[in-house]
Amino acid sequence: MRCITLQSFESVLSSDRAFCGSQLGDFALVGLLGCDAVCLLGAGFGGAIPAIMIANPDARVVAVDNDPQLSVAGKAIQRSYFPAHAFEAVCADAFEHLAAAPSKSFDALCVDLFTENGYAELYYDDKFWDQVARVLAGDGVVMVNTWGLPSHLKPFDGPTPHVAVGRGLAMRFGDVRILSHLRNQTLLAGPGLSRIDLANSIEWPYRHDPFAATALISKYRASTPFTVDHLPAFKRPGDRPADFAQLAALYDQRLICFADDLQSRVGIDANPDEPSRAYLRRVLASPHAPEWLDSLLRSADPETAAFVPSYFCSYSAAGDTAMAWFPDWLVARYHWLTAEHADWLWRYALWHVAAVASNPLRSVKDDWLDRLTDVMADVVVSGSA
Ligand SMILES: C[S@@+](CC[C@H](N)C(=O)[O-])C[C@H]1O[C@@H](n2cnc3c(N)ncnc32)[C@H](O)[C@@H]1O
Repeated sequence: MRCITLQSFESVLSSDRAFCGSQLGDFALVGLLGCDAVCLLGAGFGGAIPAIMIANPDARVVAVDNDPQLSVAGKAIQRSYFPAHAFEAVCADAFEHLAAAPSKSFDALCVDLFTENGYAELYYDDKFWDQVARVLAGDGVVMVNTWGLPSHLKPFDGPTPHVAVGRGLAMRFGDVRILSHLRNQTLLAGPGLSRIDLANSIEWPYRHDPFAATALISKYRASTPFTVDHLPAFKRPGDRPADFAQLAALYDQRLICFADDLQSRVGIDANPDEPSRAYLRRVLASPHAPEWLDSLLRSADPETAAFVPSYFCSYSAAGDTAMAWFPDWLVARYHWLTAEHADWLWRYALWHVAAVASNPLRSVKDDWLDRLTDVMADVVVSGSA
């Protein structure tokens, strides 16, 4: 039987769910800060707005984009779905907007600035990060979306845009934490980070929202802070794989090395001339995949094993059932994972499962969600504590 999924604003952007798996839900963490004023730099079509608004019903939200049409879209979303919220859509350059704002005027800054071709230049500009530090309140938090390389392809090694952003934040704020979602890494910094570690008392509207919210908080708690000393030096302008084509090339190059490394770990040989993506899918769809994931977890670091839940999430979004075994594997080993591989469980596995559960566009049947019910309930009660 074929399933047609219609994508529309109603299906992904509405007030009846906070988390949509295909969108960035990490910004919902600002809700756990009890913010008065939130600034979203790079409003786009407003995918991040529901998570921010639902988690912060009393906050004033300013969404900035330099594309006039997108500012209009942000305003339309708020009027349709969040009419009671204090919201302002501003058409401006992000740097100009910050430069004109009073010092310490935002409790949370969510930064998501990309052009058609790649990262916004501002991500590489010290003056921009100076303004970010200036407008952030004394107990505020900044969250920056960096895109292009998933955890297992080592986004913080070498001259990557992630390193540039990490340095921009770490040099001004000290500790930086990283949250992973597919190819995105959200970097968090600021004096208010400790305030995030609160009980999740928000009333979420959708039945899977509490699971996603708890998985998000757990992912945050399990993230390890790094400082500027953990990052390689960043030279500019020569070393800048910042446009999407360069990032795609870097992704493919690192994927080949990763697949080679995996061959030696899992003992499934690649066919001659088999592309890395096809090899990984063959490994993940193999009837032996559950067994070798057990052994992979025993032999590899969490970042290496991070690719498994990330591919589950990405295949599911595409309607590919290659990894239909994964939820059952997770249910069967949940207690073992909490005891022995908590880092991987909280930082990668549960979040990606929650993202699939929350995705209104998933075309894979839901029956695995029922089998995860007990695990979801336990996560909501105990989190990563
Ligand atoms: C990835 S999109 C944002 C997606 C959005 N946060 C969402 O959740 O749907 C990046 C946005 O950054 C905006 N942008 C890029 N450079 C900018 C700048 N210098 N100032 C303001 N907005 C900028 C683009 O117009 C684009 O809409």
